[in-house]
Amino acid sequence: MKQGNDSRNDNPATIALGQAARQVEQRLLKLLPRAVDLEQRVIDAMEYSLMAGGKRIRPFLVMETAAIFGVGADSALMVAAAVECAHTYSLIHDDLPCMDDDDMRRGQPTVHKKFDEATAVLAGDGLLTLAFEILSDERSHMDARVRCELISFMARALGVNGMVGGQMFDLLAENQTLDKIRITRFQRMKTWALIIFSGEAGAILGKAEVRRRHAIKGYAHDIGLAFQIIDDLLDQEGVSAKIGKTTGKDAAAGKATLISLVGADQARTKAEMLINQALQHLEVFGDKAENLRNLAKFIINRAY
Ligand code: IPE
Ligand code: IPE
Ligand code: MG
Ligand code: MG
Ligand code: MG
Repeated sequence: MKQGNDSRNDNPATIALGQAARQVEQRLLKLLPRAVDLEQRVIDAMEYSLMAGGKRIRPFLVMETAAIFGVGADSALMVAAAVECAHTYSLIHDDLPCMDDDDMRRGQPTVHKKFDEATAVLAGDGLLTLAFEILSDERSHMDARVRCELISFMARALGVNGMVGGQMFDLLAENQTLDKIRITRFQRMKTWALIIFSGEAGAILGKAEVRRRHAIKGYAHDIGLAFQIIDDLLDQEGVSAKIGKTTGKDAAAGKATLISLVGADQARTKAEMLINQALQHLEVFGDKAENLRNLAKFIINRAY
């Protein structure tokens, strides 16, 4: 089954997510490079992983925050596509045998299963570099300073003080007991950083004033941690066919999660508190933030 696409018709957040997803998927297909020879295989693997489904939460965040700041839909779609490329790269590499060793992603065989390991490594590399190529494209923003800011912030979100460092930590922390501060710090690096960037990207594109940019960042920060807590809960309690991934992997690998430290109930309470806090950050935007409110509620209630 295709995870995500089938479940987009039950509430306002899933409807809006589904619409944004289709737009971003069309744009991704247009942005994928063309090949003339044997390199086609890596492009096929990139397309396979991009088009396998996925909730497209990060692109949605870019598009919704960009709309709040009056940014044109075409610019927003470019940046949304770049973020999805970067995110999909992280999933391909996260699933590799030397990382989490997962066979299923987005309801389909992982890229190294469908193709092979070397192709999966290269498809990830191809998507990461494509992400930066898209950000540097004039269609992302006419102003080169804005494009540089986007590139710089996304690089920091993905680099050693962001996702890459968080993933290193995640692997080294297996079977270790960490305190809440360390768990929270490395989850911020591995997952929040790109979610925060996705929210902030709309503010960067719209050259938002500091106070409003700060409010969006606060919102993305809170939903980002709640998002990873729910991901960890779904790994423990979710239905594999629904979430499109094999469940029970975190406990089996001895992953350091908030659940392993405080238990599922307390972790969910923490996620709920974060979602309420996220909603408060949106007050300044009034009705314009309705879709972002719905997204926060979707994140806490999600079953996939
Ligand atoms: C999964 O992200 C990986 C994490 C960072 C927790 P998503 O749950 O957003 O995955 P897709 O894009 O919908 O497949
Ligand atoms: C992955 O976290 C975070 C990434 C940077 C990809 P997980 O390892 O928990 O993500 P899933 O559960 O495999 O999607
Ligand atoms: Mg992982
Ligand atoms: Mg994983
Ligand atoms: Mg997980």
